[in-house]
Amino acid sequence: MLCFNPATCQPRQIYKLMTGIIVPRPVALVSTMDKQGVANLAPFSFFCGVGSNPPTVLFCPSLRPGATAGTGEPPEMRKDTLRNVEETGEFVINVVSEAIAAAANASSAEVQPQVDEFVLSGLTPLVSEAVRPPRVAESPAQMECKLLQVIYTGHAPASGVIVLGEIVRFHLREDLVENFRVDPAGLDAMGRMAGNTWVRTRDRIELIRPE
Ligand SMILES: Cc1cc2nc3c(=O)[nH]c(=O)nc-3n(C[C@H](O)[C@H](O)[C@H](O)COP(=O)(O)O)c2cc1C
Repeated sequence: MLCFNPATCQPRQIYKLMTGIIVPRPVALVSTMDKQGVANLAPFSFFCGVGSNPPTVLFCPSLRPGATAGTGEPPEMRKDTLRNVEETGEFVINVVSEAIAAAANASSAEVQPQVDEFVLSGLTPLVSEAVRPPRVAESPAQMECKLLQVIYTGHAPASGVIVLGEIVRFHLREDLVENFRVDPAGLDAMGRMAGNTWVRTRDRIELIRPE
């Protein structure tokens, strides 16, 4: 076995190890809104459920290198999604099916905060019930969330920031759910591997759990 001590590796090398080892990762297509009402959309694969009582999820936007551009302002290292969540306390997680994977990928472009990635990706905003950020109409399942806690694991570029939220509404396409069971084939969720590789969820097996 090869052994790597992260203390002697570059952050980029550690990122490659983690995104190669921790697979497949579900993709949260996160919609937020800034204080001025501009919508924002971006995918995050450092994402998972935490518990069901209360229904809790987390996703992790990492810090950017940040740029002052001679303005004298402190560098803004937060991605737009994190800044919006910290300022408004609300977000929506939209599930990425294969039908919208390319559009979700397009929404990951590093663009200025005033750019609405709904427009960029061609996805359709749909009014939410309990939060201001819109849902993605084409997504087969959406979860409206209110912020519980933000945890900075570090303050350097590439440090992860944990955004913990409580789900206040679940929305599912009607044909996908029966007695709270979700049809995985209909959901057709996509996952992310390392780099530009994604994975489908169509190759499934059953394992009966021991008594
Ligand atoms: C499939 C996919 C998964 C991604 N996962 C993450 C992630 O978990 N954390 C992160 O910081 N960036 C992730 N990114 C990159 C962000 O989507 C990208 O930085 C985006 O521009 C952030 O947008 P924002 O500034 O509007 O928040 C991912 C990109 C793709 C395509």
